[in-house]
Amino acid sequence: AIDPQFETNREKVGEENGVAVWGPVDPPEKLGIHGTHVAVDFDICLADGACLEDCPVDVFTWVDTPGHPESDIKAEPTNEDQCIDCMLCVDVCPVDAIDVDPG
Ligand code: SF4
Ligand code: F3S
Repeated sequence: AIDPQFETNREKVGEENGVAVWGPVDPPEKLGIHGTHVAVDFDICLADGACLEDCPVDVFTWVDTPGHPESDIKAEPTNEDQCIDCMLCVDVCPVDAIDVDPG
């Protein structure tokens, strides 16, 4: 499962598609955690798609990640600013790849 303490335990190494990326990152195998308020561990996500289908405000968009061992697309929390903290995505992800911090 995603580490809910990632902001403490990891370093922000850059940005992609408008969201923060938390390392370590070593593409294509290791892609880190993407997003902050809504965070997706790209190394756990296996492209189930439930988060995209169920999010009421369309926070997630598919991005291509060719060569990653789990899946070649991932759910990027592109519109994390729109999140209403309903926690649906956290509940439906089968591999617990998502952390939402209502803060
Ligand atoms: Fe969307 Fe709700 Fe998840 Fe926020 S908590 S990203 S609104 S499903
Ligand atoms: Fe990935 Fe979980 Fe969404 S596997 S596509 S983050 S439901």
